Amino acid sequence: MLQKIKILTIIGTRPQIIKASAISRAIKNHFKNAINEIILHTGQHYDTNMSEVFFNELKIPKPNYNLNIGSGTHGSQTADMIKGIEEIIVKEQPDCMILYGDTNSTLAGAIAASKLHCKIVHIEAGLRSYNKTMPEEINRILCDHCSTLLFSPTKTGYQNLIKEGFAVNNTSPFTADNPKIYYCGDIMFDNTLHFSEIASQKSGILKKYNLKKNAYVLATIHRDNNTDNPERLSNIFEAILSIAKNNNIDFVIPLHPRTTKVLKENLSSDIYYELMNNKYIKIIEPVSFLDMIELEKHSILIVTDSGGVQKEAYFLQKPCIILRPQTEWVELIEHGSSIMADADVNKIINAANTLLSNKSTSFPPIFGNGKAADFICEEILSNFIPIK
Ligand code: UD1
Ligand code: UDP
Repeated sequence: MLQKIKILTIIGTRPQIIKASAISRAIKNHFKNAINEIILHTGQHYDTNMSEVFFNELKIPKPNYNLNIGSGTHGSQTADMIKGIEEIIVKEQPDCMILYGDTNSTLAGAIAASKLHCKIVHIEAGLRSYNKTMPEEINRILCDHCSTLLFSPTKTGYQNLIKEGFAVNNTSPFTADNPKIYYCGDIMFDNTLHFSEIASQKSGILKKYNLKKNAYVLATIHRDNNTDNPERLSNIFEAILSIAKNNNIDFVIPLHPRTTKVLKENLSSDIYYELMNNKYIKIIEPVSFLDMIELEKHSILIVTDSGGVQKEAYFLQKPCIILRPQTEWVELIEHGSSIMADADVNKIINAANTLLSNKSTSFPPIFGNGKAADFICEEILSNFIPIK
């Protein structure tokens, strides 16, 4: 009998759990006789609505290991993860490790795997904001540069890798010193296509919050440079209040726990008071992925500093205001469906005026064909031979 390849998948945060569901689904549907996936959850996210809800809803296999690391400073959180992941690599002896995106869980996996010469498959490789004050920028650069197979969701990401010295003509066998880079489309697009119809059938979120289709704005805010900076956070909510009142439009805001924890402390007192008492503003707990897709699908505009949500806006053909000074998803800006407004009150309000009145935006298909996860599994299988 053919020996299965053993993959150790590292997840830790909400978006990584969602991303991993695409690969787990591909394995279950097409590669279950060839790939044995072991899932390690670092526990970076741990609230039920930041973690468990996704396993139940997206039918992801329960993690084989949970390190339960929880929150902490970058150094202590990452160090604890490295130690825990190292132990599991030694125990499981995987043929390779899958890492997603750019979180501290990604970085910890990359360091632990490299030191033990476990080959790394990086999904979402090559993305760059060119802002090294973002913790994610450091994490993604370091992870890319010790990976063996690098899967970029966009052409820009692929080109970024080439600019950093990755060769396009390396030949097999691939290693961290002789890596292979790919442009393969986005597994999050796979997910949106797969779950969109299921969300329509199962989600009751619009009814729950009395939201009318195409008559509300969806907003998410969690990026550290917004939440931890009182001026930026106040600017963002001042702009949101202004857009809501000027357009008589509801805002539904599923708030990340990071933001909830600092809202009162970091908002100016008048903005906080108005936010809590304004009839247009619905601040709610983080929602499940099916509820989130449903909210995105029927919004008239999305306002976000999330990497994943700005892309999902594009997948679902919604205009989007990006509350960041740069984005790694530059295509969204180039095609005109998204406007980068940073945390500037006037820029955010002007962007809303532009996007709410512009009905002719186009959304060319630039994130692949919805089968990125199958492609990635095929490439893993053709490039890695089981160790034992
Ligand atoms: C992390 C990632 C970020 C990603 C985001 C997705 C890093 C450096 N950042 O940011 O790239 O966009 O996840 O959501 O890895 N908290 C809870 N409950 C939870 C999780 C977090 O209350 O289940 C609170 C804690 O107060 C914690 C804070 O949120 O200190 C920040 O959590 P952390 O995982 O450190 O970073 P995120 O901001 O979530
Ligand atoms: N998401 C969700 N519920 C929420 C907010 C976001 O399911 O309340 C999903 C969203 O649809 C996307 C992912 O979480 O798939 C994005 O995660 P997040 O914004 O936390 O992180 P980022 O993408 O910025 O790293």
